[in-house]
Amino acid sequence: MVRVCVIPGDGVGPEVMGSCLEILQVMDLGFEFVHTDAGLQCHKEHGVYLHPEALTIIKDSAACLFGAVTRPPPERNYISPLRTLRRELELYANVRPIRTRRKGMSPRPLDLVLIRENSEGLYTQRERAEDEDTIITERVITRLGCERIIKFAFDYAISNDRKRVSCVHKANVLRKSDGMFREIFYFQAYNFASRRYGLEVDDYLVDAAALNLVRSPEKFDVMVTLNLYGDILGGEAGGLIGGPGVSPAANIGDRYAVFEPTHGSSPGLAGKDVMNPSAMILAACMMLKYLGKVKEANLLSETLDQLFERNVCTIDIGGSYGTKDFTHEFLQELERLTSSTTNAFK
Ligand code: IPM
Ligand code: MG
Repeated sequence: MVRVCVIPGDGVGPEVMGSCLEILQVMDLGFEFVHTDAGLQCHKEHGVYLHPEALTIIKDSAACLFGAVTRPPPERNYISPLRTLRRELELYANVRPIRTRRKGMSPRPLDLVLIRENSEGLYTQRERAEDEDTIITERVITRLGCERIIKFAFDYAISNDRKRVSCVHKANVLRKSDGMFREIFYFQAYNFASRRYGLEVDDYLVDAAALNLVRSPEKFDVMVTLNLYGDILGGEAGGLIGGPGVSPAANIGDRYAVFEPTHGSSPGLAGKDVMNPSAMILAACMMLKYLGKVKEANLLSETLDQLFERNVCTIDIGGSYGTKDFTHEFLQELERLTSSTTNAFK
């Protein structure tokens, strides 16, 4: 049995997770799901935003599925449990496949992968008050941090048959930190990625990358960038393919991995049976690939494409289905595709 840690969280988290697990369960994957908690409800019950056993469970699992959590009202010491997981498990790579699956959702079709440094930069939260009116925020960029995320991006591009990797930075202003990031990028490109594997490489200033994502997204294949730029570009790119309801993310380190939809817990929608479970399903799809179950991952992805093609989707992307009905349709389409694909699960 392959153990998978499951953290449904708050708000719509349990609904999209429920839908995702229903699907994974019919696939006979040999998974054992171990549930644990995070978020506001967890805090009410255990006094912490991440269950004390969560880290141990994840470390004993092959991967983790994470739903969504609700932030408490502004509170000085709150750190999102997702960030705790990223830090404690050294999940230094954030991966977001950005592909237009539902026609009409994007002004121009997108098919790229955004790879974001997930462990340092401004997210180290080094802020101090110089005086009453001035706050100094320090941004940490290390050689190790740059080297490993760039290596990750090149390895990803090579093993996923992508042709080009673009480095996104602001080295015209942040000459030392972003300058080092860009330098390491070209060093690795020259030494193996483009020399040995023929990958094309180029680089963009982050503002130009933001513009091109909207205007000419076909310029991009794999993008690799620093933490905050990746956060912002990730939101933008997600918006260009139909929003967070169809945008999954993976947080990957050398030993552990956590897969999540990029949407929040939307407390206002909780229990209303309207949330789009697609991002959660696509997060599971990324997990399956990570676990080496590529055929099964492709089958889920194909199922979603078929449904969208037939206009079977939730309200956020122009459909009329609720979470449950959509899941039901998904299961039926999955069964149809499975019986037409010989040995689909073998
Ligand atoms: C994301 C989110 C997180 C981030 C939040 C929840 C801390 O926006 O994964 O993009 O800023 O990294
Ligand atoms: Mg974000």
